Amino acid sequence: MNKIPVILDGDPGHDDAIAWVLAKASGLLDIRAVCTVCGNQTIEKTSYNARRICTLIGLDVPIGMGSDKPLISARRMAASVHGQSGLDGPILPEPSMEISPLPAAQLMAKVLRESAEPVCIVPTGPLTNVATLLLSHPELKEKIRCISLMGGGIAHGNWTCAAEFNILVDPEAAKIVFESGVPILMAGLDVTEKALIFPADFDRVRAVGNRVAAVVADWLEFFYHFHRKLGYAGAPVHDAVAVAALIRPELLEYKDLFVQIETQGEYCRGATVGDLLGTTGKAPNVRAAMCIDRAGFADLLVEAVRAYGGGREA
Ligand code: RIB
Ligand code: CA
Repeated sequence: MNKIPVILDGDPGHDDAIAWVLAKASGLLDIRAVCTVCGNQTIEKTSYNARRICTLIGLDVPIGMGSDKPLISARRMAASVHGQSGLDGPILPEPSMEISPLPAAQLMAKVLRESAEPVCIVPTGPLTNVATLLLSHPELKEKIRCISLMGGGIAHGNWTCAAEFNILVDPEAAKIVFESGVPILMAGLDVTEKALIFPADFDRVRAVGNRVAAVVADWLEFFYHFHRKLGYAGAPVHDAVAVAALIRPELLEYKDLFVQIETQGEYCRGATVGDLLGTTGKAPNVRAAMCIDRAGFADLLVEAVRAYGGGREA
């Protein structure tokens, strides 16, 4: 089966890192480039983390650095969740590759222009880079096969009651993307907060026994440390669901919805407002994942780390 060409675009971030581990291991994705965006941490830190992750997993593709701030909003970060480095926890290898001379949106444009077929973009952070691409290269929109993103939440937010972090960091960028007409697979909190990896799963990952497995288990434990205090039974590996949507869509249940991004609301800025009642009369612009086979998702992650060779599950 032909591999799906993709561009990964994130703000690593523990769950971005796990998403990239899954993407590379799947064997179903042809990863053409990695791009970084400021979100969980500064663009310098997310870009350094991207280089370390790519070194760890042997992903030798161009890495395009995004801008150091959202389109209009002031910068907002998540050090409370991911730590001062943005990827606190296990020691990682020093990068074996430099950042591309091309900024993220220009690298995305180059990949799209040179690809013989349309490419999927997998944003797992704020949508600043994708919006910049759409604004600066409208002629390349047809070369985007789909946008499989982690972001938003139809029922609720996590950074405010109304808004999820990735959308809230850059609502103007999200509005541009959601209004672009490009097919969108949305992994919002409705599904990602059900994509829980339990402590027992951490042990299964670690038992695979190779270096990537040990690092992923450590990332899961660090990520769970924050979420356990909020009452979660496991680590919600949000970003990996945006990859699962491409490689194992059968694990997910979807609702086709017309989704608008609130940019003006005094209390709801950054909300992804889904037309659940059908009152807008507008055709859906999003396939929103609402449920996931959690056990199957956990098994997918265990299998992914095994692909990095060595070791066996106890
Ligand atoms: O709200 C969860 C999202 O915000 C994830 O992408 C996480 O990495 C953070 O960026
Ligand atoms: Ca992220």
